[in-house]
Amino acid sequence: MVSRDIMRSTARDLRKYYSPVLNGELRLDTNTNVLGSNPAAMKFIRDQRTDLSEYPSTYSDGLRSSLADLYGLDTDNFVAGSGSDEMLDISFKTFTEWGDGCLFPYPSYSLYDYFAKINGCKVSFSDLTEDFQLDVGSIVSSGAKIVIIASPNNPTGNSFRQKDIEEILAEFKGIVIVDEAYGEYSDRSMIPYVNEYSNMIVFRTFSKAYAMAAMRVGYAAAGRDLADMMNAVKIPYSLNSLSEGAAIAALRDQDFVKKSREMVLRERPRLASGLSELGFRTYPSDSNFVLAVSPISHSALTDSLKQRGILIRDFGNRRRTENCVRFTVGTGDMNNRLLSAIRGILEECG
Ligand SMILES: Cc1ncc(COP(=O)(O)O)c(C=O)c1O
Repeated sequence: MVSRDIMRSTARDLRKYYSPVLNGELRLDTNTNVLGSNPAAMKFIRDQRTDLSEYPSTYSDGLRSSLADLYGLDTDNFVAGSGSDEMLDISFKTFTEWGDGCLFPYPSYSLYDYFAKINGCKVSFSDLTEDFQLDVGSIVSSGAKIVIIASPNNPTGNSFRQKDIEEILAEFKGIVIVDEAYGEYSDRSMIPYVNEYSNMIVFRTFSKAYAMAAMRVGYAAAGRDLADMMNAVKIPYSLNSLSEGAAIAALRDQDFVKKSREMVLRERPRLASGLSELGFRTYPSDSNFVLAVSPISHSALTDSLKQRGILIRDFGNRRRTENCVRFTVGTGDMNNRLLSAIRGILEECG
């Protein structure tokens, strides 16, 4: 066996990402859009006549211009690429030196740690408070080069207080990334303020409310200076033509996003109260998922649901989310199926 010492030291303790073997299960584990493929993106792909011999637009100008129209900003305020994960990678490559400190609230999205480490950063965490809000003081005084705030946060589901985000933007000396992967489900966004805060970058994705995770499209919005620096570092052509065209088509169909959001706002309280009745303790959510403390062992619940054809995400082994599992909010029928499967499992446990 080859020793992992052969690896770059900062990458040595990394392991492969979540990658379940699938067998037609109902997926309530990745917070994607349960309504299925974005219809406008699908139509674009069916109808399109792209010449595959040509490179895509180097900086996805068509998509950036459509985003500018949507938000009333300029094309130069945007960076577009292969998922917001690429925006993370670009941010570290653009703004950090080897060994720089990066700070993430905990618990939050696990890939922050991965992208920081593969880019040679030293990672530290600022624990969220008891009610899963930001510890502003520890973030501001950290001396880190980058802090990433996911609002709404994954896996806790809640948004952070606007005044806390604004205080961090005003006081923190480095770059503040606000990751709004679930922003379409909440009422708030920092994108309208990108020209006000010269240290802020906001991420969004087409993987969730836009129902296009398979196409891998994400973007960053920032003041022109930061956006220009990021575009200079980004791998040219990283967003392929089909994904870019599909994303432009999807932006023109805001009704679908609205419908997706309304479905989540309708079903989320139903799911949460159904879970509470079964003995779960649920946390408040502004997202398309709900974090809950399981009344039985988190791993037994996750495994038993998998055997019944339903995937959920298990966070029960991690600090601060002990015995917690995370459920994507499904349609009414999906949630009924989930709740009745859980009821069956609890009855079997006696
Ligand atoms: C908070 C957060 N940010 C970013 C992402 C990744 O988004 P993308 O698919 O655009 O890379 C996710 C995916 O689950 C997420 O939960």
